[in-house]
Amino acid sequence: MPKIFSGVQPTSIPTLGNYLGAMKNFVTLQEGNDCIYCIVDEHAITLPQDPVEIQKNIHNLAALYLAIGIDPKRSILFIQSEVPCHAQLGWIMQCVSYMGELERMTQYKDKSQGKNAIPAGLLTYPPLMAADILLYHTDLVPVGADQKQHLELTRDLAERFNNKYGEVFTIPEPYIPPVGARIMSLAEPTKKMSKSDKNKKATIFTLDSEKDIIKKIKSAITDDEASIRYDREQKPGVSNLLDIYSLCSGRSVDDLVSAYQGKGYGEFKTDVAEAVVGMLKPIQEKYNNLIESSELDEVLDEGAEKAYAIARKTLKDTEQALGI
Ligand code: ADP
Ligand code: NA
Repeated sequence: MPKIFSGVQPTSIPTLGNYLGAMKNFVTLQEGNDCIYCIVDEHAITLPQDPVEIQKNIHNLAALYLAIGIDPKRSILFIQSEVPCHAQLGWIMQCVSYMGELERMTQYKDKSQGKNAIPAGLLTYPPLMAADILLYHTDLVPVGADQKQHLELTRDLAERFNNKYGEVFTIPEPYIPPVGARIMSLAEPTKKMSKSDKNKKATIFTLDSEKDIIKKIKSAITDDEASIRYDREQKPGVSNLLDIYSLCSGRSVDDLVSAYQGKGYGEFKTDVAEAVVGMLKPIQEKYNNLIESSELDEVLDEGAEKAYAIARKTLKDTEQALGI
C-alpha cells in the first residue's frame, strides 16, 4: 500500500486553513494507504514556546487528530520527540543540505525577517522535515501549498543522498488539494490564514465557538462590487469565502456562484458561517469527549512504538550507507 506521512505543529489549536488544506485529507487518505501522522513538537520549538502552553497544545492536537477521524487502529499517530530517529536523521540531512538552498526557503526568509538573533533551527527546519518524511519511505505527503517548496527540497536531498551513497530513500510526492491548499486571512485576503496572526478577526480556529465564527465571517473583508463570483486576483476575499463554503458544504464553487446570483454579501456570509459551524460542530463534540480520556496517552504510546520500529531501520540503513 502507498505510504502517507504528514505532521502539524503544536503551536496552537489548528486553524480552519490547517484543517481544510491538510488535516481533512489526512482522514480521507486513510482509505487504501498506510498513514503515519505526527505532532511535530521539535519543529514547533524552532521559535521559542512556553513550556506549559506547548504541553497543552500537544495534548489538544492529539485529541483533535482523533476527533477529525484519524483512526488509531488503521493509522499511526505519534509525537515527534518520542522517536529520537527524527533528530538523528535530521542531523544527517543537515549535513546533506547546502546553506544557500536553506537560505532561499521562503518560510525561513519570512520567519527570520526583522530578527537580530535568528535561531539556527529556523534555517535547519527543512532538513528535519525531510527526515520526518524519509524515515517512513513515504510516497505521498498531504500538505498545504505553503509547504510545496519544503517538499521539493526534501526530494532534492533524498536524490542527492541516493546518488552519492546508494538507494536508501523513497522519493516522496506532495499531495496538495485543488481547492483549499491556501485558505486566506479573513482580514487581509492576500495573506494566508495563519495561527500567529495578531489580528483576532483574521483566523478561524477549529475549536472556535459558533458565536466567534459568525462574528469573524461577518467581518471578513470583501470588496464593493456586491456580486458573488470567483476571481482570486480581483476578488480575493469573496473567492476565499467561496473556497471555504465549498469545502465545508461539499457543493462546488460553480454551483455556489450560480445559487448566489443577485444576492448580497450579508446573506452569503450568514450561509458561509452556517456551513463552517455545521462542519466543525461534530468535530468539536468528539473533541470534548476525548480531551479528558486516558485513551489519548495509550494511542500516543503505541504510535511512538510503531513509528520507532520503522524509523529505526531506515536510520540504520542510512548510517550503514554512510559508513558510520
Ligand atoms: P501553520 O503553518 O499554521 O503554522 P503547520 O506548519 O503546522 O501550521 O501546518 C500544518 C499544515 O497546514 C501544513 O500542511 C500546512 O501547509 C497547512 N496549512 C497551514 N496554513 C494553511 C492555510 N492557510 N491554508 C491551507 N493549508 C494550510
Ligand atoms: Na506551515
